[in-house]
Amino acid sequence: MTGIGEVLVLNGPNLGRLGSREPEVYGAATFDDLAALCRDTGRRLGLHAEVRQTDDEAELVGWLHEAADGRLPVVLNPAAFTHYSYALRDAIAQRTAPLIEVHLSNPAAREEFRHTSVVAAVASGTVAGFGVYSYVLALQAVAELLAES
Ligand code: DQA
Repeated sequence: MTGIGEVLVLNGPNLGRLGSREPEVYGAATFDDLAALCRDTGRRLGLHAEVRQTDDEAELVGWLHEAADGRLPVVLNPAAFTHYSYALRDAIAQRTAPLIEVHLSNPAAREEFRHTSVVAAVASGTVAGFGVYSYVLALQAVAELLAES
């Protein structure tokens, strides 16, 4: 499915391990739970949410190119790439539709190296610290921004 009404929900490294990965930081929901929540939320908002995850920087860059070429909005959790990937930053800078940066945890309240996001300045905005609800808020933001445009 392409065009307005579709949103890509892209997830970076280690997020496929949600549920077993540091649950005290990232919560008990599995990646499949998160994907189902995004699809259900999208449906409520009139959006088809396609949810993907990769541990591979090149694959994530390729998906961002696909979004730019298809004028698709994106909800992106870049995971650790947030803090150092200029390749991701440069791919996001080519966006042709809203892109919301999301984080389950609040990186500003964690280790020093997480305080820097090299992608925030080229995103439409950032939602962080609300667990899986960060994705719900980000999808609501996408729906609002699409309605405005
Ligand atoms: C994260 C925060 C990042 O610092 C971390 O590297 C992640 C997950 C989050 O969703 O809270 O992998 O993006």
